[in-house]
Amino acid sequence: MNAKSETTIGNARIVLADRVIERGWIAFSDGHVAEFGEGDGPAGCEDAGGDLVMPGLIELHTDHLEAHYEPRPKVFWNPIAAVVSYDGQLATCGITTVLDSLRVGRDDDVRDGGLAEAITSARDAGMMRVDHFLHLRCEIPMPNVLDEMQELIGRPDVRLMSLMDHTPGQRQFRDEAKLRIYYRGKGGKTDAELDVMFERRTAYQKAYAETNLREVVAQAHAHKIPLASHDDTTGENVTDAIRDRVSVAEFPTTMEAAHALHQAGIGILMGAPNVVRGGSHSGNIAAVDLAREGLLDILSSDYVPSSLLMGALQLPRHVPAIDLAAAVRTVTKAPAEAVGLHDRGEIAVGKRADLIRVHVAHDVPVVRAVWRKGQRVA
Ligand SMILES: [Fe+2]
Repeated sequence: MNAKSETTIGNARIVLADRVIERGWIAFSDGHVAEFGEGDGPAGCEDAGGDLVMPGLIELHTDHLEAHYEPRPKVFWNPIAAVVSYDGQLATCGITTVLDSLRVGRDDDVRDGGLAEAITSARDAGMMRVDHFLHLRCEIPMPNVLDEMQELIGRPDVRLMSLMDHTPGQRQFRDEAKLRIYYRGKGGKTDAELDVMFERRTAYQKAYAETNLREVVAQAHAHKIPLASHDDTTGENVTDAIRDRVSVAEFPTTMEAAHALHQAGIGILMGAPNVVRGGSHSGNIAAVDLAREGLLDILSSDYVPSSLLMGALQLPRHVPAIDLAAAVRTVTKAPAEAVGLHDRGEIAVGKRADLIRVHVAHDVPVVRAVWRKGQRVA
């Protein structure tokens, strides 16, 4: 037992990257994992009551900040207060590292809100429980995507950029009727308004998508920022993803696309809500079906922060080939590696002590404690 250890937790089910210690202990000091082992922990250690202790979760794609900033349609909250309450929610969902997805190439009626600046302000003032990075969601066909990208791409906290195209009639919304339902629910738009918007989006794609895509990809590579493709559906989408040297494919919508992406060595990210709900809200492929084929690498909470832990813990039940350690890897080690965060994502000596203690009852996980770099934050 290392004398300088500051915190020790015993009587825990410890989830390592490749196996689970059914009854063990862990010690961390100076923000890093110092030691862990099987059986009784050192005298005086904190009793985890048999709960799971696992690495803090790593979230690559959540737009949930928007729900805190715009809690009702067109009702906007103080952006720093929104960031702080969102951050608190993430912490209690077991997320210790997040890539906040910010829209780049916004629709005319979507307000900027200064959320990137609010994240910086909250971080600089020591208001955050969780480690925050940015994920720029670049809507490629939009005429403003390059200008909006330029405002953010130089920030040191940009960790991922995704290449999105939500033009009606393809990818996620190949079924245009689903897009209508989505937008009706989101902004209360009428069908006539949607007709105008869809026509405009189709014209934008024709006019701008090709040149914008080349420029966004070139800039991401120049800044050494990992790229993600988004909603890959066809063989052509996959060919483009390979050509653009993406590291991650977010939410492929068909089995064919997922197989081809996997073959190309591209990590496949799917929504945890899709696992919990048993299917995709847009009517696309089920994440569990991909997992059964060995094609699921990373889970993301997408639009429900608490789904990340819940979805991961449910995976072994749906897919016998996935044990608890493998399921937890989809929300820890795999996303960390995909964006080059090699200092975290697993319980191993020397890694960051980003840890969570989790109790499960009624099939629902509850996060009882969260440490970020060894500091208790929730
Ligand atoms: Fe999408």
